[in-house]
Amino acid sequence: MEVNIRTIIEEDIDSIVEIEKEAFSNPWPRESFIVELQDNLLARYIVAELDKKVVGYAGVWFILDEGHITNIAVRRSYKGQGIGNQLLEGLITYCELKGIRHMTLEVRRSNYIAQNLYKKYGFVEYGIRPKYYQDNEDAIIMWRSNKKR
Ligand SMILES: CC(C)(COP(=O)(O)OP(=O)(O)OC[C@H]1O[C@@H](n2cnc3c(N)ncnc32)[C@H](O)[C@@H]1OP(=O)(O)O)[C@@H](O)C(=O)NCCC(=O)NCCS
Repeated sequence: MEVNIRTIIEEDIDSIVEIEKEAFSNPWPRESFIVELQDNLLARYIVAELDKKVVGYAGVWFILDEGHITNIAVRRSYKGQGIGNQLLEGLITYCELKGIRHMTLEVRRSNYIAQNLYKKYGFVEYGIRPKYYQDNEDAIIMWRSNKKR
């Protein structure tokens, strides 16, 4: 399975909006992704492409020397095949190359799959944001220190 990780382009937005709807209970609307791509100078997004189809994406905001992961998702029918690993590795490598020293994210307390993924790449729990999500679920805050390049 040859997965290509590359920078997002505007033509990817339709696929990303579909994946976002599949993956999250409060999905970002299309307009948010358009703003991310066109106006948010801090935002960087990558996609995973398989047989010319976008099957996953991940994003980060560069805030000083920190990379704040905004979202990472894989199309439902392609989960469990290593694409999440490749997206997170792609994001980390990109951040390290750009001199980002630390990475952070919030993840639902119940989302063990994503927590496993993040822990595998050295993210560690640093605290809780109580009732962070619209449905009042807590967020776990995780951080990782990047390698210096
Ligand atoms: C989280 C997500 C991106 C993982 O993508 P994926 O392509 O299925 O993940 P991979 O197959 O690359 O697996 C990566 C790691 O995730 C964890 N993982 C994946 N599926 C798992 C499962 N069913 N149970 C437990 N852990 C699992 C494992 O640590 C795995 O490592 P391994 O390959 O060494 O076993 C995907 O499940 C998804 O899109 N979820 C919905 C969106 C979401 O919750 N995003 C995170 C928001 S914070």
